[in-house]
Amino acid sequence: MPAATIEPARRVHGRVRVPGDKSISHRYALVAALAEGRSHLRGYSGGADCQSTLACLRVLGIAATSDAEGAVDILGRGLRGFHAPPVPCDAGNSGTTMRLLAGVLSAQPFVSTLVGDASLSRRPMTRIMEPLTRMGAVIEATDGHAPLTIHGAALAPIAYAPPVPSAQVKSAVLFAGLQAHGTTSVAEPAATRDHTERALEAFGAVVNRNGTTVSVEGGQRLAGGSFVIPGDISSAAFWMVAAAALPGSRIEIEDVGLNPTRTALVGVLRRFGARVAVDVLGADAGEPYGTITVEGERTGSVTISPDEVPALIDELPAIAVLAAQGGEVTVRGAAELRVKESDRIAAMVAGLRSLGIPADEWPDGFTVHGDGAPRGGVADAHDDHRIAMAMAIAALSASGPSQITGSESVAISYPGFFRTLERLVA
Ligand code: S3P
Repeated sequence: MPAATIEPARRVHGRVRVPGDKSISHRYALVAALAEGRSHLRGYSGGADCQSTLACLRVLGIAATSDAEGAVDILGRGLRGFHAPPVPCDAGNSGTTMRLLAGVLSAQPFVSTLVGDASLSRRPMTRIMEPLTRMGAVIEATDGHAPLTIHGAALAPIAYAPPVPSAQVKSAVLFAGLQAHGTTSVAEPAATRDHTERALEAFGAVVNRNGTTVSVEGGQRLAGGSFVIPGDISSAAFWMVAAAALPGSRIEIEDVGLNPTRTALVGVLRRFGARVAVDVLGADAGEPYGTITVEGERTGSVTISPDEVPALIDELPAIAVLAAQGGEVTVRGAAELRVKESDRIAAMVAGLRSLGIPADEWPDGFTVHGDGAPRGGVADAHDDHRIAMAMAIAALSASGPSQITGSESVAISYPGFFRTLERLVA
């Protein structure tokens, strides 16, 4: 199994751009396919997950091409422009691909099958099957897991209140509702990332929002367009945490997405003791972007409470690492982490301990207590991109070199991660 070797570093320093936002890339690709006409998507994520979405669209008969700079062109053919897929759509490791595409395909007049890798085949799908089935689709699964075989149908609208806050569930229902007859609404138990709402508006749909309830009218026509996708703040999170955890560091992240449903990490780093500046420079398709600068000043303590979890869900592995060399981090109310690409609670606690960083595991979270002198060691990424990157950042605090096994999984969201790490520690 390939392993990355990480040498200790006292601080990180430099300017960086991160790959295009993964959540926005998936949505623009799917909405562009449902729209009429050509879309040009600059900054589309080169990570494997977003390439899985493009591969699925191609199996559904949609022309999607990438140029040398990574921009993606998609020729949309409207809400009814897909072809019955001759082979299964392979979502790979990508939960967003599988769940959002299930919403799209539930309304299509054909049968389709969605498959994924071993990790994705272990993740819960009943959360999307339940509302989509209520709308009229027939979905076959094995004990609530992929492969999913979707018998699309003329859907009825729904007023849905998901039991868990999930942008993927909300988006699946909205994509189905866009193709149903009437008004579909989703009332979320807590606000989640709102990229689907912003993307639908950017492609010309009317979306109504009232607090954490969002609704769409079925049958709206979408028009293709030319959009720029900002950098992914969930990828930037690893550099932000590295700077905050290693006092004396300074990292500047350029052209990063600053959608307010994604920036909660900024407040967490300030609570921990870092100096963080956020400069909003503009917006494209309703998605703000700009520069984030983090300077590590001192290590402190931070507790993430359950109500903060939905807005930080992808940043929690990085946040655990804040206390790698000093201070304390506690996260509770985050049992959702157990059904991500890996069981991220178990994987983080085991990985940090392997590097010599004391950590306690709770059913719904963890506590990490840095005591200043981790020795380093061999930590396993559990084939999970965010665990691999979190372990690499944690290993910087160690007194000796460390190895991260399963490190190649960074390619899911951040193919150039280790090259950038080498530059920022130099
Ligand atoms: C995502 C939503 C979140 C997040 C995932 C991406 C999205 O998942 O963890 O990485 O793009 O909608 P949930 O909707 O399951 O919370």
